[in-house]
Amino acid sequence: MDEFDLSPDEVQRIGRLAADAVAGHRRDLLSHPVFGKVGGDAALFDEPLPEEGRPFEEVLAFVREHVMPRPMGNSHPRFFGFINATADPVGTVADYLASAMNPNCWGGDHAAVHVENAVIRWLAEILGFPSTAEGLLVSGGSMANFTALAAARRAVTPGNVREDGLAGEGRPRLVVYASEQVHACVDKAVDLLGIGTRQLRKIEVDERFRMRVDRLSEAIAADRRAGLVPAIVVGTAGTVNTGAVDPLEELADVCARESLWFHVDGAYGAMARLSPKLRPLFAGIERAHSIAADPHKWLYVPYEAGATLVREAGRLPDAFRKFPEYLASDPESPFPGPAWFAERGVELSRGFKALKVWMGLKRHGRRGYVAAIERDVALARFLSEEVRRRSDFELLAEPVLSIANFRYRPRNASLDEGGLDRLNRRIVNRLVAGGAFFLAPTIIRGRSWLRVSITNFRTTEGDLRALLDESARLGRELMENSPAPRP
Ligand SMILES: Cc1ncc(COP(=O)(O)O)c(C=O)c1O
Repeated sequence: MDEFDLSPDEVQRIGRLAADAVAGHRRDLLSHPVFGKVGGDAALFDEPLPEEGRPFEEVLAFVREHVMPRPMGNSHPRFFGFINATADPVGTVADYLASAMNPNCWGGDHAAVHVENAVIRWLAEILGFPSTAEGLLVSGGSMANFTALAAARRAVTPGNVREDGLAGEGRPRLVVYASEQVHACVDKAVDLLGIGTRQLRKIEVDERFRMRVDRLSEAIAADRRAGLVPAIVVGTAGTVNTGAVDPLEELADVCARESLWFHVDGAYGAMARLSPKLRPLFAGIERAHSIAADPHKWLYVPYEAGATLVREAGRLPDAFRKFPEYLASDPESPFPGPAWFAERGVELSRGFKALKVWMGLKRHGRRGYVAAIERDVALARFLSEEVRRRSDFELLAEPVLSIANFRYRPRNASLDEGGLDRLNRRIVNRLVAGGAFFLAPTIIRGRSWLRVSITNFRTTEGDLRALLDESARLGRELMENSPAPRP
């Protein structure tokens, strides 16, 4: 146990033990609760820093017994929370291979850098960007939006914002526009970039939860009149609450007319552009200056993998280039490769996230993803039709992508809207506590809805029917026990 350097035979032996654990985990998922709440067993993880090492078998046994049976739940076919995709096992294996190689992907002429470069090119093609677009894999959608908005801030600010900052006499008060359904990570980015969330305008949405372009134009005009500097519009291609896609073509027109940077948050929806059937929804995305995408959502890649893309090469290094002397390479050095990824974002040392995206795309091909994504969308439509058919349920709106929102609304009960909210929240809590389903409620226009998000190639129509049956059963039970349930 005192040696770090294991022989190839030993690496193979423990690797096989781990592979058995992975296969067993996947096989046993269906016999465990969807969500592996730790609860009262938290003490299991409350141990002191180990002084002495233990045999690998013992460590793995603990993981098999106590860690793997308590998952987030998102590889279960009945997990419908957030936008947490089921992991593609090809990606799981790719992560193992990537960490075996353990390259540092900040730059250099080694295979991992070429693989990431290829992934960026493929993602650009999926999104409708030119092959000359520049990009970077990051941890997820939040970092992808932050990175793109940093490039935007650099591009739209007079002078050199990296040196001059945004504060002080004569510096511009930049304004960012997004719909009121924009993801909270954009608020975080606007905050961290020093723009200030007071300068983030949340534009009203229409009845389909898409940004109202007339209201956007009005807000831009009002800000100009007030001496502020309208700078960036964030369109969303697939909002987290309802899957709405903003009118991207019209947003691109506004940005062109007003000389604004057009960013699209496509963390959830943009990969659906792969599907010829769904592509028209995204018309205009290809005109964006930057896009945030998220392979760990609708490419089913295991966490983590997000992606920032900018149409015009050079925009990311403009915002991030800062090389320490010890990384400067000699002109005759054999080290430099096709991309310096460290110049394109916050991180210097970077893992080989690209391999799982690359292996997935090679294994399944465009066609494989189109089929899986279209199936998720069809399942959301199936659910909405089932909701419509059942008189004790109410549908919020026709799904656009793979999210459906509905609520239990018993026909003959005299519940006010507040009572319905409480009832539906309690249904969700019972569903999750019962272990058979996982979903997270959301609040839309001030009311609670059961939100089902399907980025899950394991889900079937039967799972969705069972969800409605169980929600109705719980609703009836809660109504019987307490006609006006309180939380
Ligand atoms: C539209 C949208 N943008 C951004 C994010 C943030 O992505 P991540 O959780 O990968 O940071 C999400 C997450 O659900 C999202 O739905």
